[in-house]
Amino acid sequence: MGIPFIDLKTQYARIQDQVNQNIQNVLEHGRYIMGPEIQEFETQAAAFAGTRHALSCGSGTDALLLALMALNIGPGDAVLTTPFTFMATAETIAFLGATPVFVDIDPVTYNLDPDKLETALTDIKVARPDLKVKAIMPVDLFGLPAEYDRILEIAKAHQLKVVVDAAQSFGAKYKGTCTAALGDIACTSFFPAKPLGCYGDGGACFTDSDELQDIMHSLRVHGQGSDKYDNVRIGLNARMDTLQAAVLLPKLAIFEEEIDMRQKVARRYNEKLADSGLVLPLLPEDMLCVWAQYSVQAKDSAHRTALQDQLKQQGVPSAIYYPRPLHLQTAFADLGYKPTDLPVSESVGERIFALPMSPYLSEADQDTVCAALQG
Ligand SMILES: Cc1ncc(COP(=O)(O)O)c(C=O)c1O
Repeated sequence: MGIPFIDLKTQYARIQDQVNQNIQNVLEHGRYIMGPEIQEFETQAAAFAGTRHALSCGSGTDALLLALMALNIGPGDAVLTTPFTFMATAETIAFLGATPVFVDIDPVTYNLDPDKLETALTDIKVARPDLKVKAIMPVDLFGLPAEYDRILEIAKAHQLKVVVDAAQSFGAKYKGTCTAALGDIACTSFFPAKPLGCYGDGGACFTDSDELQDIMHSLRVHGQGSDKYDNVRIGLNARMDTLQAAVLLPKLAIFEEEIDMRQKVARRYNEKLADSGLVLPLLPEDMLCVWAQYSVQAKDSAHRTALQDQLKQQGVPSAIYYPRPLHLQTAFADLGYKPTDLPVSESVGERIFALPMSPYLSEADQDTVCAALQG
């Protein structure tokens, strides 16, 4: 048996009885859509995040769509975001007819650089006077919160909404506050490999606004009004399956402990790789990172290939998040970006790669990973 990149089996062995029982309960009551586990999970997730509302939905992508739709973002609007992220971040903006405006990242945190955000806000007014900048969408990449004090201050000064893409950071804290409780709406993903993952697709939106919650609640089921056959707006079918909520409940119960376990694994990696010559991830002091990924940087792309080959030979999996930043993706070619436009994202994309990460990664397996890297 090789080392798993993300170890879901050990976690399942730990909570098997509760998970199986919960699934069995759903099979018996048969309310596969909007069954009682959905409400139970939403109540517990809101309490965990520290928000008035949590609205479960079909995926992290659905969560971003619901949030942007609730804020009325569409054609003629611009949303500032990072290019160093998963496709869904900017895809949802473009899908609604709005324009993503990419702002480069900080080379240490890999998150939106607030200084560049200020500059981009000035530049976009000149370059695209046809667009109205409506929102900022920060991403907490690899589970590390973005620089929220600055981002929220800039948003306030420019009267912009903030939609937090917390797909990788559920459970993370920025100066004591859960990332899911930041911005106007925060969105997360419960994709199986995420820090809190279900057994299929799932996601959620978090907000303190009753009004936004009501709109997203309606959007989630075809823009429903007073009942199912009263439709007051164009919406989606974006509900979470009851079975996924049933799986998430026992996982949420052990999540805090797993977040602590993740800190130990990340800290140990940083200690063991201190002399490796690799660029190691930041161990933040005033933030809690949930380590959705533990990513390091090689010297250059050839060095990365050599290291990944070395790992593979020793049965150690690795992965690249993200080899090509979004501004250079074919799907966004019409936005007119070219190589060198966002140099930090481009250079990090050439050198970064992720190592096995899980709360259950044993010290022995971690030693094998580190030895294979340095061997
Ligand atoms: C940063 C980011 N945003 C959005 C998503 C979309 O989430 P999902 O795959 O649940 O639709 C993901 C996850 O895959 C992600 O990593």
